[in-house]
Amino acid sequence: MLKLKNKKDIEKIRSSGKILAETFEIIREQLKPGITTKDIDCISYNYINKCKAKPAFKGYMGYPASICISVNDEVIHGIPSSRILKEGDIVSLDLGVDLDGYISDAAITLPVGKISEKNKLLIKVTEECLYKGIEMVVIGNRVSDISKAIFNHAKKHNFGVVRDFCGHGVGFNLHEEPQIPNYIKNGPNPRLKTGMVIAIEPMINIGGDEIYILDDQWTVKTTDRSYSAHFEHTVAVLENKAEILTCL
Ligand code: MF3
Ligand code: CO
Repeated sequence: MLKLKNKKDIEKIRSSGKILAETFEIIREQLKPGITTKDIDCISYNYINKCKAKPAFKGYMGYPASICISVNDEVIHGIPSSRILKEGDIVSLDLGVDLDGYISDAAITLPVGKISEKNKLLIKVTEECLYKGIEMVVIGNRVSDISKAIFNHAKKHNFGVVRDFCGHGVGFNLHEEPQIPNYIKNGPNPRLKTGMVIAIEPMINIGGDEIYILDDQWTVKTTDRSYSAHFEHTVAVLENKAEILTCL
């Protein structure tokens, strides 16, 4: 079942998404070599709490923290720990906010201090992939138009596109229909309709697309140990445009 959102619903998801974007801004200001990923988890929890919202990931399928923090060759779902971030690391932050039952979901990859040119390019291209995907959010287009735009841009740079995880509907629950793959896939391919709210989230690797899951049952890493980046926005499909809901 695909659950469409009305104007009021979208307004609430927008408020949820604003808290999420503000949380990322606070983390961005404090992200320096020496900080631990657990410190970042605390910052997230405290700010979301102060806004009278809840971290949507905490407890979801047993996930133990407020935010996912994935470093370097970790792709997604890294669990905050005593790991100390150091100059040259790249850090993917993935966060969900639940405001009165309205869920927003977003991700960014940030540099810790100075990073290599190759990693800068990876981050830039992955963010561009997200925006190329969002540009395809037009009434009448299909989900595959988003997938194609993301995939083609990543491939132009010879980067690997993760296939085992994808974007999704969001808003009343963290994961709703439809799935939004980052590559062309056979299967359901609905047209975009007014009132859909979707999370678009390219996960792009410098090397191959293959991944594996660590023994902690959560952390996803690239098989070839190449570095990985992740960008995500929650986007509403409106009558004459797409609106990004996870912004300031
Ligand atoms: N942010 C992920 C997604 O975009 C979900 C995180 S899984 C959780 O689909 F368990 F950490 F919540
Ligand atoms: Co998501």
